[in-house]
Amino acid sequence: MTEQSGSCVLVTGALGQIGTELVPALRQRHGIDSVIATDLREINDHSVVASGIFTVADVLDKNRLEELIISHSVDTIYHLAAILSATGEKNPELCERVNLGGLANVLELAKEHNLRLYTPSSIAVFGPDCPPLAPQETPLNPTTMYGMTKVAGEVMANYYWENHGVDVRGIRYPGLISWKAPPGGGTTDYAVEIFHHAVESGNYTCFVKPDTKLPMMYMDDAIRATLELMDAPIESLGTARAGYNIAGVSFTAEELSNAIVAKIPNFVCGFEPDIRQKYADSWPSMIDDTQAQNDWGWKPLFGLEQLVGEMLSNLQDEN
Ligand code: NAD
Ligand code: SER
Repeated sequence: MTEQSGSCVLVTGALGQIGTELVPALRQRHGIDSVIATDLREINDHSVVASGIFTVADVLDKNRLEELIISHSVDTIYHLAAILSATGEKNPELCERVNLGGLANVLELAKEHNLRLYTPSSIAVFGPDCPPLAPQETPLNPTTMYGMTKVAGEVMANYYWENHGVDVRGIRYPGLISWKAPPGGGTTDYAVEIFHHAVESGNYTCFVKPDTKLPMMYMDDAIRATLELMDAPIESLGTARAGYNIAGVSFTAEELSNAIVAKIPNFVCGFEPDIRQKYADSWPSMIDDTQAQNDWGWKPLFGLEQLVGEMLSNLQDEN
């Protein structure tokens, strides 16, 4: 990665699953003092995010964000603060308020202070009427509040681009698999929890059915995709700029369990579907990312075997 001097970046929701890995990657590029990590939560001294600037900020507090933008001469925001699908269905009002209210604030600030903005979307934009291989352009009829906020978020982002020239970009991330920070209350969390249980106790009860197949991605691919999209020349981006489909690897819960058994033969996985099965069933099983390949050269590196190998060896080293 090349260091980009003169750029100061603000990250919201920096203590979450993605922020824990994106913040160090951004610090490596821009310099340690040029990345302002923020979150609603107080930081734990052991967090990797604690190695640079961190301050508490609620994305619903626009004045606080503006104060940080001005005092640090911020020119780019990575807006990660959100309420994910499973937590969002437990508290849809909070999900709507944080996801839409927070985005409205950063979009306005981006317009007022001429900032670049990265705001992630999700495979949750798709609904049950989507084909199993989700096209870039297809009717978006999500059935979760989280998915609805992501569809509205893409529409809002496009509005600010079309009407105010705000350079806003986003990716419809698949379920992300990583070992450095726990996932934050999503439907795809089983694909992370299973590794922790495999290493710590040798057994796991999965909350979706064995044949549930969803699009997933190893975090290293997701971080690289984020930086590559932000590096892409503005003229190369098309109508998908606020919500590019990107594919990583799709597998069923049983295929994931079998891939772990291949490395840990005594591992036992049971299946007891809960309400999250319904959310998983409303999403497509694969993603067509032709547009991202064509517009900014997207290509994933991690397949199922590599992902399982990385997850297990890193978690085993930690234990
Ligand atoms: P996460 O839940 O792990 O982290 C979100 C962070 O936002 C948390 O640290 C939380 O404390 C913070 N937060 C919540 N409310 C806040 C508020 N009012 N003000 C400031 N901070 C607040 O989520 P993540 O997995 O890191 O996801 C980041 C973004 O990526 C979200 O927009 C999410 O929808 C999107 N995404 C994630 C995945 C995934 O699998 N992790 C998949 C698709 C899209
Ligand atoms: N991983 C996320 C979730 O399950 C998808 O956006 O909520």
